[in-house]
Amino acid sequence: MTLPVRPETDRRIDELLGVFPHKGSALLPALYLVQEETGQVSEESMEYVAGKLGVSPAFVAGVVSFYTMFHREPVGRHHVQVCRTLPCALRGANDLMAHLKTRLGIRDGETRADGKFSLVSVECLGACDRAPFIQINDREYGPLDAAKMDDLLKRLE
Ligand code: FES
Repeated sequence: MTLPVRPETDRRIDELLGVFPHKGSALLPALYLVQEETGQVSEESMEYVAGKLGVSPAFVAGVVSFYTMFHREPVGRHHVQVCRTLPCALRGANDLMAHLKTRLGIRDGETRADGKFSLVSVECLGACDRAPFIQINDREYGPLDAAKMDDLLKRLE
């Protein structure tokens, strides 16, 4: 069987299995490793991880669909998540989202044609004190306004 990940990633997942008392507990970090390498968690990857951890592919699919940080489809190199929950909404998240849509030329849930940016609104990112708050890949930014957002985009472009 051809692995959907590099042997190095397969080895790192094997290492994870030795860290947790139950193999299934390695699910989230294993999925992170897969996504880190491939940019998404495909059906094939979910079956692979399920096999490694001794859980069902349906269980893995349930976990992947629950957490917004896992992508079943490829996303942009800079994956922009904008919090839309009330504290951020009250501090301008809707305006920030509208600004991002205009600047990036894409709608909520889309990836730019050049693959550089994808944009999605999400529920609370856990940094309400920094509202309005966004996350780009693993990095967090907030509080933001249109001007700060433009500076950030300039650096990423
Ligand atoms: S409400 Fe936006 S980070 Fe919590």
